[in-house]
Amino acid sequence: MQAAKITFIGGGNMAAALIEGLQKNQASMMSVAQPVLVVADPSAERRALLADLYAVETFADSMAAVSNADLIVLAVKPNHVRAAAEQIRTNLSPNQLIVSVAAGITLTALQNWLGGHQALVRAMPNTPAMVGSGATGLCGHPALTAAQRNLAESLMRAVGLVQWVAHEADMDAVTALSGSGPAYIFLVMEAMQAAAEQLGLPAQTAKLLTLETVLGAARLAMTVDESPAQLRARVTSPNGTTERGIAVLEQAGLRAAFAQALTAAHQRSVELGVQLSEDERAL
Ligand SMILES: NC(=O)c1ccc[n+]([C@@H]2O[C@H](COP(=O)([O-])OP(=O)(O)OC[C@H]3O[C@@H](n4cnc5c(N)ncnc54)[C@H](OP(=O)(O)O)[C@@H]3O)[C@@H](O)[C@H]2O)c1
Repeated sequence: MQAAKITFIGGGNMAAALIEGLQKNQASMMSVAQPVLVVADPSAERRALLADLYAVETFADSMAAVSNADLIVLAVKPNHVRAAAEQIRTNLSPNQLIVSVAAGITLTALQNWLGGHQALVRAMPNTPAMVGSGATGLCGHPALTAAQRNLAESLMRAVGLVQWVAHEADMDAVTALSGSGPAYIFLVMEAMQAAAEQLGLPAQTAKLLTLETVLGAARLAMTVDESPAQLRARVTSPNGTTERGIAVLEQAGLRAAFAQALTAAHQRSVELGVQLSEDERAL
């Protein structure tokens, strides 16, 4: 199969993570050949850095960059998506697939800004994508072909796990879970480390043991065919240390706190989506 051409509009953190993932993980793309990667970004400094780091072709002009691209990734901040879309809309052909990673920008807004274009996917990645361990929710326009769905999935799989959602409204739940989720776990890590230091462990020891415990627990849960509840039961011996600690977390309302946290993040994601569409109407 011929190498796919992928153009990134915006060469920031997310574009760099995807480019790095694609270059490291060639097998994730459907084509046999390594995809041709192109970046458009207004900053000359950013273009020079990306060309230097990844040997990609760079453009100041988005319109030129999207010519003959099979896949165009909109990787700009949400408030720049409209301008970025309008810069390329006159040069698009209907079968060019566009994947937007911008939080809160709906498929309808993208379609409007891109002059009715329908080959559209909305993606919600998270920051561990920077190290190839992202978790991404995808939602596609109903007009997508199976090949276009595969192409979008291959792109995001280069930086981690991918899950499609059937209804666009579910992207707010994805945002509340995996989009904001790394920060919840960082908070848990901060709390565990601080508590261990209070018990007398040196800061570096507390930090390293906390990090490896979180990573190890996630790896174990992904490797064995048991639910987190079963794994927890297995390490909780009657009248032991874990049972004592877990009882405190249950009494402190950990489950309710997570339920409230995800509900609040979901609500904020809905509000931001509404605000973005109101800003759009105001323009
Ligand atoms: N970082 C994450 O982990 C993460 C997670 C989930 C979703 N996302 C989404 O990914 C998107 C990109 O985030 P990021 O962290 O990569 O942002 P970023 O580092 O700010 O990168 C965006 C880049 O796009 C450039 N740009 C602005 N307008 C442009 C245009 N019209 N054409 C071409 N390039 C343009 C920006 O240049 P200037 O700086 O000069 O404006 C900047 O270099 C955001 O919409 C965000 O919601 C990111």
